[in-house]
Amino acid sequence: KLMKIFVTRRIPPEGMKILSAAGVCEVSLWDSDEPVPRSELLKGVQGAHGLLCLLSDKIDAEVLDAAGPNLKVISTLSVGFDHLAIDEIKKRGIRVGYTPDVLTDATAELTVALLLATARRLPEGVEEVKNGGWSSWKPLWLCGYGLSGSTVGIIGLGRIGLAIAKRLLPFGVKRLLYSGRTAKSHAAEVNGEFVPLDTLVSDSDFIVVSCSLTPETQGLCNKAFFSKMKNTAVFINTSRGAVVNQEDLYEALSSGQIAAAGLDVTTPEPLPTNHPLVTLKNCVVLPHIGSATYSTRGIMSDLAARNLLGGLQHRDMPSELTL
Ligand code: GLV
Ligand code: GLV
Repeated sequence: KLMKIFVTRRIPPEGMKILSAAGVCEVSLWDSDEPVPRSELLKGVQGAHGLLCLLSDKIDAEVLDAAGPNLKVISTLSVGFDHLAIDEIKKRGIRVGYTPDVLTDATAELTVALLLATARRLPEGVEEVKNGGWSSWKPLWLCGYGLSGSTVGIIGLGRIGLAIAKRLLPFGVKRLLYSGRTAKSHAAEVNGEFVPLDTLVSDSDFIVVSCSLTPETQGLCNKAFFSKMKNTAVFINTSRGAVVNQEDLYEALSSGQIAAAGLDVTTPEPLPTNHPLVTLKNCVVLPHIGSATYSTRGIMSDLAARNLLGGLQHRDMPSELTL
């Protein structure tokens, strides 16, 4: 008898091919580029043995109850898992697969791109070319901040944080600070200095948030945090929007407390077009595209499918989350 799988969105074909070639499951797909409505999610999971979901799907007790006792494995097409109610999942003995490592390079590249775009004001420059604001070469126009000789602080020197540090160092970064729960042995690869968060915030010219969203990091970047930053410092977040208190960030940016911010993640997502942060010239907002290269998304799809099959067949999962 075929096992039932619910896939909550169209995903790159790599994963779908693996699922159908396995011949052990009957796949039902929310066949859209847009998120599955909650009611359809609750219907779709009924009786499912496996769930392949995205970071935009909130998988909580209600969804798990709707799925019922068949559900053995949840595979998320993401490295982040703050959208999964881990305690509830653990209680029910469900295994979880995710996609670390395969998106590290793409996400680190995007972070560097966003940092440079924000610090050197690329979106503003592009806009001026389009709207006729480019009247001549001006000594004082569109000046920003450079990495050479700077101090960079990375909050969360995990896989992605380390990859970001490695890419920033060749720009001539002088000091690389990081903070987090514990010192990391891999920090030696980038001469990273483990410092208290306060030191990182006050000493850095560029602050990059690359930690996971947990109760500890929720709202970490708030009024007190921004008030300790240099007025010339640039703030970058490519982890999760909820690490930042956005009202406090808006205040810091609009008052000149900090120089600029680049965000690939926000709360909510999507951020409404009339959100105050979107109106600021010194805030560059991207639509959560850290892992968005063709090849990375294909590999994520492949890995998510193999995670799901491994769990369904009581085998090893290539990337199983330790619960
Ligand atoms: C992206 O944010 C991910 O968690 O994969
Ligand atoms: C810039 O183009 C310069 O020549 O200084």
